[in-house]
Amino acid sequence: MRLLVTGGAGFVGASFVRHAERAGHLVTVVDNLSAGLEENLAGTVARFIKADISKPGSLAIRDTFDAVVHMAAESHVDRSIEDPRDFVTSNVMGTLQVLEFVKSCKIPRLLQISTDEVYGSIEEGAWTERAPLAPRSPYSASKAGGDLLALSYVETYGLDVVITRCSNNYGPRQLPEKVIPRFVLALSEGKNVPLYGDGLHVRDWLHVDDHCRALLLALEHGRSGRVYNIGGGTSLTNFDLTQRILKEMGVAEDRIDYVEDRRGHDRRYAVVWERARSELGYEPQVDFSEGLTSTVKWYLDNPEWVAAAHRKLATIRNVSKS
Ligand code: DAU
Repeated sequence: MRLLVTGGAGFVGASFVRHAERAGHLVTVVDNLSAGLEENLAGTVARFIKADISKPGSLAIRDTFDAVVHMAAESHVDRSIEDPRDFVTSNVMGTLQVLEFVKSCKIPRLLQISTDEVYGSIEEGAWTERAPLAPRSPYSASKAGGDLLALSYVETYGLDVVITRCSNNYGPRQLPEKVIPRFVLALSEGKNVPLYGDGLHVRDWLHVDDHCRALLLALEHGRSGRVYNIGGGTSLTNFDLTQRILKEMGVAEDRIDYVEDRRGHDRRYAVVWERARSELGYEPQVDFSEGLTSTVKWYLDNPEWVAAAHRKLATIRNVSKS
């Protein structure tokens, strides 16, 4: 297929490009590099277009595509709490521009990449795709807005849209504002790690390669108008996750700093992905212990990428201050 991947220079995006090319797809990436890095696409043959999809007219691309995979998003919860405006611009207005592009170019399919955070926090059990949306941060509210717009285009304009909602991704090339790379790199620089609140918040961990395999399956076999949850199967408190990272790095527990909690911090995320299993044939393959070991090693083995990622984060912070 000829694929247009928005946000393809980001963490999940660049991994998806690799999986898609290996599966024989021809990829064009559009990314404004607000959180993505062009280096992330090294080794791929994807055509790269630098553009901001939330700006009207920025998607004036004449080529024919068989599908759009829409991953461009502002994704970091802490930043959405500091300033929600860019999140609404990218995740709501950006999705609207993509939907209009798909509609006007009559592109046969849109795969909308979303998050389990749109369901909100759950004390016990796990959310199915039928759960009501109850986002609790500006980030997740903006993603829920994008999802609802996308579903409205199925009903109103007859677009073919498939939505996926993943749990917490980890793996190579994730910006070190997210917990795993942030903690690994802090420890490698001799610093302590900042664990929010009591550290007992729970996340389900999904290796980015498993996520991308699920996305390819959803692209090919998903049903229009349907949502597919994509989980990883390793549910951990942040404290347990931190212990594992400390062990990987060979350092003691006194390297944890308990810091002020995130505002409105969602206590627990959990999704049921039976639909993806039965309709798409999805099954996570990466064992968490092995995935974490190789992820930690990747960050330690790639100082040039780490330097580029730190520069990107410094730019993001300067832009949000101005
Ligand atoms: O569930 C999927 C979502 O996972 C994605 O939609 C989001 O884009 C992605 O950012 C992620 O959201 P989280 O807020 O769960 O990820 P984050 O890595 O920021 O934090 C994971 C947990 O670790 C969360 O409970 C907050 C905690 N944490 C995070 C950081 C950055 C800390 O205790 N200390 C930290 O420094």
